[in-house]
Amino acid sequence: MRVYDLIYKKRQGEVLTKAELDFLISGYNKGEIPDYQMSAFAMAVFFKGMTSEETANLTQSIINSGETIDLSEIEGVKVDKHSTGGVGDTVSLIIAPIIAHFGAPFAKMSGRGLGHTGGTLDKLESIEGFNIHLTSQEFIDKVNKNKVAVMGQTAKLAPADGKLYSLRDVTATVDSIPLIASSIMSKKLAAGADGIVLDVKTGDGAFMKSVEDSFSLAKEMVDIGTHLGKETVALVTDMDQPLGEAIGNSLEVIEAFETLRGRGPEDLTKLCITVAGHMLVIAKIFTENQQAENAVRKVLESGEALAKMKEFISAQGGDPDVVDNYSLLPVAKHKVAVKSPVDGNVKKIKAETLGKMAMMLGAGRAVKTDSIDHSVGIIVHKKQGDKVKHGEPLATVYSSTSQVSSDVVDGVINSYELTKEKVEEKPLIYGVVT
Ligand code: URA
Ligand code: CA
Repeated sequence: MRVYDLIYKKRQGEVLTKAELDFLISGYNKGEIPDYQMSAFAMAVFFKGMTSEETANLTQSIINSGETIDLSEIEGVKVDKHSTGGVGDTVSLIIAPIIAHFGAPFAKMSGRGLGHTGGTLDKLESIEGFNIHLTSQEFIDKVNKNKVAVMGQTAKLAPADGKLYSLRDVTATVDSIPLIASSIMSKKLAAGADGIVLDVKTGDGAFMKSVEDSFSLAKEMVDIGTHLGKETVALVTDMDQPLGEAIGNSLEVIEAFETLRGRGPEDLTKLCITVAGHMLVIAKIFTENQQAENAVRKVLESGEALAKMKEFISAQGGDPDVVDNYSLLPVAKHKVAVKSPVDGNVKKIKAETLGKMAMMLGAGRAVKTDSIDHSVGIIVHKKQGDKVKHGEPLATVYSSTSQVSSDVVDGVINSYELTKEKVEEKPLIYGVVT
């Protein structure tokens, strides 16, 4: 086999075989195929696409480039959850104890935040002592004991994806649906889950800006899961504003606790109910979605999952009292209200801009090696459809310095798209792909 011929074949729009994809990915992973040939291949995929079967084969080749995690020692059906990256997306933190409360294992490998999106590990580390560095065996034992554990991703999963992603990043080939779908699914499938619920974000703060492209990505990922024998469901959900009200690590932890007390923001609560509902059906705890969702709603209203949250925190070295006493969490000293310069109605909130402002405050990382400040962030007071008066606060910035830079204040104001016209409410969940 020659790399040249495979690039040529893809450039002509032909379908590569499983053996050819294996050759390309394993050769690239071992450093035998240079970046320039792999870039040409990625660009050919960008223009010519891939069939569903081809994309599933590519995913399998990427999985084969590294280790896979064996979760068979964990009892029950392991359902993983993945979001393609939102702003203020606190769903994982909330559903972890809910899934466990119903007796299904929640065994999640999570990532850190990068750029305008946050990460579950960083949020959990707002809790003093919370340890995400578990060995595989510790992770398995904790899930078997408490039904819930979260650990950091090890670098050994799907290493070819890491290399390919960095290459795509600098060759304008990130936004290719088969390449995104195989990238995300390779990591999820290597992590050993039996089933997966995907939350594909759509809109300003998302990878996919249009609803149509988001459905294509959702379908591609569901097809990969199905081809590789894992039950997969994808939701397409709105990211034309942040989810909930809190953006930033400790602020989102508080928002998660409030949601578990039945006092969470409406959109965040609804998405948690839907995602958890699908996970509990795949985990065979319930047979129907409606039944599962009703049960989850009841647990949120009664606060029953708080006990599981405490167990989860305590098992990973954190102080479970934070759940009842938020002052044990780091909260920024300075709060600055950002006021609306005009009267109007909120049409949308550029979630990416707002996420970047939270990052500039210190809540997130511009590059992987940056350190973060768990105490800072933004609370939004006005959401899509809300009426706002001149001088009324749009948001509150939580800062560790008394002076908040005018770039951040302007960024928050500019992220709000205000209009004089009445605003139609937009859906939170555009649809479900199964
Ligand atoms: N996230 C990933 O992990 N991979 C992509 O290609 C895009 C988003
Ligand atoms: Ca939030």
